[in-house]
Amino acid sequence: MRTLIQHGTVVTASETFLADVAIDGETIVEIGRNISPEGFEKVVDASGKLVLPGAIDAHTHLAMPFGGTVSSDGYFAGTRAAACGGTTTVFDFILQDFGETMVDAIKRRDALCAPEAAVDYSFHVAVKDVSGKLLDSIGDAVDYGVPSFKVFMVYDFGVTDGVFYQVLQKAKEVGALIEVHAENNEIINTLTKEFLAEGKTDAWYHYASRPEFVEEEADKRAIAWAKATGAPLYIVHLANKGGVEAVTQAKDEGYSIYAETCPQYLEFTSDVYKLENARNFVCSPPMKGEESRQALWAAIRRGDIDTIATDHCPFQSYEKDWGKDDFTKIPNGCAGIENMYPYMLSAANNGEITFEQAVALCSTNPARIFGCQKKGAIAVGMDADLVVYDPEMDFVITNDKMHSDCDHTIWEGCKLHGYPVQTYSRGRLVYENGAFLGEAGWGNFVKCKLK
Ligand code: URP
Ligand code: ZN
Ligand code: ZN
Repeated sequence: MRTLIQHGTVVTASETFLADVAIDGETIVEIGRNISPEGFEKVVDASGKLVLPGAIDAHTHLAMPFGGTVSSDGYFAGTRAAACGGTTTVFDFILQDFGETMVDAIKRRDALCAPEAAVDYSFHVAVKDVSGKLLDSIGDAVDYGVPSFKVFMVYDFGVTDGVFYQVLQKAKEVGALIEVHAENNEIINTLTKEFLAEGKTDAWYHYASRPEFVEEEADKRAIAWAKATGAPLYIVHLANKGGVEAVTQAKDEGYSIYAETCPQYLEFTSDVYKLENARNFVCSPPMKGEESRQALWAAIRRGDIDTIATDHCPFQSYEKDWGKDDFTKIPNGCAGIENMYPYMLSAANNGEITFEQAVALCSTNPARIFGCQKKGAIAVGMDADLVVYDPEMDFVITNDKMHSDCDHTIWEGCKLHGYPVQTYSRGRLVYENGAFLGEAGWGNFVKCKLK
């Protein structure tokens, strides 16, 4: 199938220009002015529209066993929602089983994902067990095409400081990238016990048990170990001001410290934990105070936040309700996979950042950092993962317009200026004007290679 997207304004991470984009099969084959429509089966008039690279959501938890249940979006529903929000590649987190090699973990989850994925996907492995030969299996996974690994400093599957350090050392040796969920587990547990003993059980105490310094301290510790080992480090879902400052300082000193934040930390503050439906906003780290929110935006503008991702991990209302009388029983996580690109592009449309910055944060930077060779840019030879975006279309998010398998969204009522009208995944139209047009199994596993 040959498709020509005509007369659009192409936006990349570095420039904006009027051009036609020609697609042959799955690949962008020509970009230029006045490409003749002859020989194209499909010609799309993108006059007045932006043509953008599809977003890459580098942080999702699809069908993840967590919090006593499984996140409500499986690989099909999650990637369907991704497509409808202009995201054409997702990186899902695999939880390694004890005793399992990293490659076996990848194959186990790929067997579930491959028949369901509606857009392309890759994985990060969340490391739990590095005993015996399992530490070396990190190198095998790098060769297999999954060079990124995560350590959790929290939850019952979090690793010890020693394991974190070993993983960083191994990453340095084999050229892997380590990601970290940084919060101080001991302090969270101590504060949680105190609050529960005092009968302080509502969702506000989820935030109160994980305030700013709990995340900041862990960010600083993780950065210190990355510096000591010389390994690069990627901090996921950075949400606090002190952590942002530590990232800026490490970058200024020349260390390869990358930071990701998520739209929920840019939009909401800890005030959401005072709402009647506060349970729905419970995720970790929690939303922080206004100063942190402002610090994140400032870091985005000056380039110290590298990527935006969603941490998409939805749970149904009845599951969130398990924590009505005890905040520790609320499964942690929120939906966002369909909202990331529209939210950041709307911020650009409203002048908060530039469209080039939105493209860099949501597409080009994650492709570069995680080593997706054919994604994240509009250029000849790249995969034709494209979004046609109408900057004039106003859109109010309501859950009934979303494509997840979740009965609510924390984004309900959020007003966006501009919205995607088409998404192409490797040249195939998978979303148009509110409707999902793709199919399960279309998505390919993307092998990644770090530079
Ligand atoms: O609350 C969250 N973020 N749930 C998903 C797991 C994680 O911490 O990334
Ligand atoms: Zn996390
Ligand atoms: Zn996460």
